[in-house]
Amino acid sequence: MFERTLILIKPDGVERGLVGQITARFENVGLKIIAMKMVRIDKEFSKKHYAAHINKSFYSGLEAFIISGPVVAMVLEGIDAIDLVRKMVGATEPKTAAPGTIRGDFAHHSYGFADKKGIAIKNLVHASGSKEDAKTEIALWFSKEELHNYAMTHEKHTL
Ligand code: CDP
Ligand code: MG
Repeated sequence: MFERTLILIKPDGVERGLVGQITARFENVGLKIIAMKMVRIDKEFSKKHYAAHINKSFYSGLEAFIISGPVVAMVLEGIDAIDLVRKMVGATEPKTAAPGTIRGDFAHHSYGFADKKGIAIKNLVHASGSKEDAKTEIALWFSKEELHNYAMTHEKHTL
């Protein structure tokens, strides 16, 4: 029931100055930040992270986008965290992502616009899609030493 999930604030989120607001949403629902760092990945790393998408038509645009600037990577922990975070992040296309979701509230890019321009959908965040993906992605992005074990204030109060 307690799960860990990988979140990336993609280059568009970092460049728009949304790191604080996006992170605050996760803290506000009570998720615990287990790990966090800023990283500029290269093509090779992108192919590992997006291994499932390498043969898709949008991959070249996606790779160009994800290596275009630094991303903020974090691991969040909480009850059913994988599904919860996907709900908070919203649909892949910001244009159709529901209001109240991160993609729906902070972006408005559409598939039509991105395809016409030959670029990736700029949708601010990546979030692990399944238990298996979360496990693989956390191991890819963080070493064991970078995953912190600490008690939050409310946890200390119950000790
Ligand atoms: O990120 P999410 O799991 O919602 O979507 P995905 O299907 O796993 O695709 C990964 C990423 O590729 C998306 O977040 C978009 O940035 C990009 N993408 C795109 O640019 N054009 C598409 N037709 C589909 C995905
Ligand atoms: Mg995905």
